[in-house]
Amino acid sequence: MRSLRVLVACEFSGTVRNAFLARGHDAWSCDLLPSEDGSNRHIRGDARDLLHDGWDLLMVAHPPCTRLCNSGVRWLTKPPKDKTLDQMRAELDEGAALFSTFWNAPIERICIENPIMHSHAKERIVGYEKPAQIVQPWWFGEPQFKATGLYLKRLPPLVATDKLTPPASGTAEHKNWSKVHRASPGPNRGHERSRFFPGLADAMADQWGGHAVVVEMLARAA
Ligand SMILES: C[S@@+](CC[C@H](N)C(=O)[O-])C[C@H]1O[C@@H](n2cnc3c(N)ncnc32)[C@H](O)[C@@H]1O
Repeated sequence: MRSLRVLVACEFSGTVRNAFLARGHDAWSCDLLPSEDGSNRHIRGDARDLLHDGWDLLMVAHPPCTRLCNSGVRWLTKPPKDKTLDQMRAELDEGAALFSTFWNAPIERICIENPIMHSHAKERIVGYEKPAQIVQPWWFGEPQFKATGLYLKRLPPLVATDKLTPPASGTAEHKNWSKVHRASPGPNRGHERSRFFPGLADAMADQWGGHAVVVEMLARAA
């Protein structure tokens, strides 16, 4: 089986990169930050500079989204104490431009993982399409709630691999499953909340790096 050249942009944890590497693919992560696991399969820098380097698959494992997602829409009319309205709008434009660059990259297959966006973000994205599916980590054996949009180009929606039963609301276990939302405030909160889920990364690598995709690609290339 031919291996795929996979670029995992905006990833410091290496979770998605390692899932593809473990299945024999030529996978690289790229982030402005150094890799957390010290891997030599990490490029530190701006992922936009790598998009023309002949990749088969671009995974964007959660671009910076605080100004794009629904939960942040209130700041566009009432900025937080340390920012002006103009700064907030500039950050929205920047976030939308980054998403657009990835979404319109010259790469055959693209997945961008992002929370649900508000209308101001959608209208700034070139060629916007709604997420092909909304997944939950608990569909992939991870006891967590976090609705995650997958924006897909020429990739099939993921099939759940290990659907857990969510605990009843109001129970201690339910609270525990919500810990992504409940991470304690502090300088590392955003960093911790943005970490990718290994069960979801495994499903991506199995289903998108898998045999059917490669066979189809080889047929096209022939
Ligand atoms: C929300 S975090 C995603 C973390 C990821 N889910 C992981 O498990 O490592 C967004 C990341 O995008 C990175 N980033 C922002 N702009 C970037 C760019 N132009 N090129 C590469 N990485 C970028 C940030 O440094 C940050 O680590």
